[in-house]
This record gives sequence, structure tokens and C-alpha cells, in this order.
Amino acid sequence: MKALILSGGAGTRLRPITHTSAKQLVPVGNRPILEFGLEAISEAGISDVGIIVGETHEEIRAHVGDGSQFGTTVTYIRQSEPLGLAHAVLTAADYLGDDDFVMYLGDNLITGGITEFVEHFRQERCAARILLARVRSPERFGVAELDDSGRVSRLIEKPKEPVSDLALVGVYLFTNRILDAARAIEPSDRGELEITDAIQWLIDAGDEVRSQIVTGWWKDTGRLNDLLEANRIVLDALEPRISGTLDENSEVQGRVVVEEGAALVNSHVRGPAIIGRDTRLVNTFVGPYTSVYHSCNVSDTEIEHSIILEESTIRDISRIEDSLIGKQVVVQRNSRKPRAYRLMLGDHSKIGLA
Ligand code: G1P
Repeated sequence: MKALILSGGAGTRLRPITHTSAKQLVPVGNRPILEFGLEAISEAGISDVGIIVGETHEEIRAHVGDGSQFGTTVTYIRQSEPLGLAHAVLTAADYLGDDDFVMYLGDNLITGGITEFVEHFRQERCAARILLARVRSPERFGVAELDDSGRVSRLIEKPKEPVSDLALVGVYLFTNRILDAARAIEPSDRGELEITDAIQWLIDAGDEVRSQIVTGWWKDTGRLNDLLEANRIVLDALEPRISGTLDENSEVQGRVVVEEGAALVNSHVRGPAIIGRDTRLVNTFVGPYTSVYHSCNVSDTEIEHSIILEESTIRDISRIEDSLIGKQVVVQRNSRKPRAYRLMLGDHSKIGLA
């Protein structure tokens, strides 16, 4: 059995962060989302992994390499354009051959892994096995309708009218029959070959499609709020560890990780929180559910419930909440007159001033 991880999407819902980086590499709890997927696949006993990459292929390759650090062997497959999940499957046809495979969307995060799901498929092999989760906003997902006996009767991608609250999670198990389906379907209104339509094609053709409901927590991290929630879930499971240094006026409370080379000077970190390697906090309060990535400088600031990416500087800001701050960003107060906001913001930036 193989795995196919999809990391080719453009990540439009996370702009401007995704103007310069792959959404699958945004860290939660200071760990790129993609790593959780690779780990879950490896734990399920699958080592042969294909990764579909698009425009951000260099960054993904630089990060994952040959996959050996996750106990996997990775083959990169270039998708010319993000033309849909079923298009990605077709792009990988040569790589997949006749093998069964798990398809994993690189921006999805599932606590509890996928081992049980894969085991079920190994025991009761069928054309497709899908994972479902109850959601509050089904219009954002592919959704499934089940008949009285619990069989999947119909799948609809992003229904305008709610038909069910059971969303398709971004982890699927397939035999190579899915390739026939992907070749047979037409692009959807958004111009993509939808995997949802391909699975519906299997149902219509009389192939067996089974489902199971996800037991743990699941999130598609395509939007800021989902990313902050994923960060919360990951931080809640942190093993506290202080590998950096605290001066005598600094304090950590609760579930906190301070990584190697990080330094707290007259600062207070209230967990769950993680302070990345070589990051410096001076006269700063970091509140619950905050991840500060490596090599940042934060001084005279209060920040809570936020994610800060690498090498950013924040000075004299009180206070920041519910934020995602990109790489090498500078946010600072200055005393120049006239008093004014002086901004250089990337395209699609969003700022909320107090
Ligand atoms: C895709 C699928 C959708 C599924 C979702 C899960 O949506 O098309 O059926 O529910 O992933 O993350 P997209 O992220 O392409 O909007």
C-alpha cells in the first residue's frame, strides 16, 4: 500500500502567508502541519509516499527531503496546475500503478492518526473508504448522505443547501478503481476535478464505498481560525520542557516549552505555549495558546492566542491576540511625529486596529 499526500494547492484562504510559503508548512505548535500527516502515515505502516507538489515544490522538497526522517521514502510528483483532487490522483497514476493507497490532504490535521482507518480498509477492502466528521458549516466541505443502513448514498461537494452535517475528512482510502472514476468525471463549477464527484461515480457504478466517522479531532487548516484552533489542540498536548534560559525575573506557568537557545529576560510565559529555538523575549508576556517560532525577537509586548513565524520582530505592542504573523515581519511602535500608522503590508493582508 502507498500514500499520496496532496501539497499542491494555492492556499488562497491563507493569503498573504501563502504568497510566499506553502500552506502545508505553516507550523502549529512550532511544527509544520505536513509533518503530522507524514508521521500518521508512517505510524500506519506505510513507507512508500508520493507527494503531489505545485508552485511551492522547492520549499516542500527542502523541508521533507527524501522522507527518511519520518521513516518513509518520498517520491515528488509535480502537478502542473491545482486542477482538483481527482486531477492530482490522475497526475500520480504512474506512481500509483495498481496499488491501493491512502490519499491525505497535506493541510488536514487529525489527532489520533489514521492507523485504525487503514486497518479497517486492509480487513474489508472495497473500492473506496471515506472518513467523515460532523461539522457546523457543511457548506465549506464535501458532505455525505447515508441511507438507513449507514451506507453512503450520495456525496455533494460544498452544498449550498445543507443536506447533511457529515463532512468528508481529507483522508481517503482507494483501490486503483478511483483512476477510472477520475478519468470519467467532468470539472465542477469551480473548474476542478473533484474527488467527491469521483467517489460518487464509484457509487453510481455499483462499486462499494464504505465510511466511518472520525473519533478524534479533525481540522482542515485552510483558514486563520482553523489554524489557531489546530495550534490550540497541539499545544494542549505539549510535554513541558525548558531547554532555553530564563533570567531571575522571568517565569513560566503551566504547559510551556522553551526550546534550545531561546532566552526569556524579565518575561512571563503562561502556557500552553511554545517559544522556538533562538527566540528572545524581553519585558514580554506570552499568554495561553501562543506559538512563537524560531529566531524571533519580541520585546515590551503582550501576545496571546497567536502564531508567529520565524525571524519576526515585535516591539512595544500591547496587545496582540488571535493573530498569525508571517516570517521576518516587523511590528513596532515608533515615536516619530506626526503620530500615525506607517504600514507596508503585503497583498491580501488583514489588520485589525484597536
Ligand atoms: C477538499 C474537498 C472536500 C473536503 C475537504 C477536506 O476541499 O474537496 O470535499 O471536505 O477538502 O479538507 P477544498 O480544501 O479543496 O476546498
